[in-house]
Amino acid sequence: MGEPPVALPPLVPPVHRGPRPGPLGGGRRQVGQDVRVDRRTLLCGALLLTTAACGTSSNTRKPGPGSAKPGDRLAAIADIPVGAGVLVDVATDGQLLLVRPTADVIKAFNPTCPHAGSVVNPPTKATPITCPTHHSEFDSTTGAVRSGPSPAPLKEVPITLTSQDIHLA
Ligand code: FES
Repeated sequence: MGEPPVALPPLVPPVHRGPRPGPLGGGRRQVGQDVRVDRRTLLCGALLLTTAACGTSSNTRKPGPGSAKPGDRLAAIADIPVGAGVLVDVATDGQLLLVRPTADVIKAFNPTCPHAGSVVNPPTKATPITCPTHHSEFDSTTGAVRSGPSPAPLKEVPITLTSQDIHLA
C-alpha cells in the first residue's frame, strides 16, 4: 500500500557555535563537534523576534528614564551596594545606572556611552564605570571621562532620596 518510511534530513545544516578550539586545544568543544539546532531551539529563535519567550528578555528597554515621571520610585537604597553600582529597570521602558560611591551618596546616570551609544557596565569595588565597546572609563562618582574615546561624561539624572528609597526627581 504505502511507501516505506524514509528518514527525513535534519531541519538545518550543522552549526558551529562559539570560538573553535585552537591548534593546541582549549575551548569547550571538541574539534569537529557539530551542534544541530533542534525544532524547539528553532521555534524559540523565531519567537524571540517578537516576544520575550523562552526565558530571555525582548530587551525593548532604552537607556534613560523612559516613561518614568518625577517622583517615581527607582529602587531601594539597600539594593545599591556601597562602592559599586547597578543597572535598574525604570518604569516599563527605561534603564538607569545607579551608583553609590559612599554609604551616603547615590547618583543616577543615563547609562548610554556618549561615544557610540553602548550601555556602560556598572562600577564594582575594583573597577570604574566602563564601556564594553571601546573601553572608555568613567568616574563612579561624577560620571566624568577618566580614559578612552568618550567625548563627554555620562549624563546625570536628578534623583531624590527618602529614608529607604530612590526616586526620580
Ligand atoms: S561606545 Fe563606549 S567607548 Fe565607544
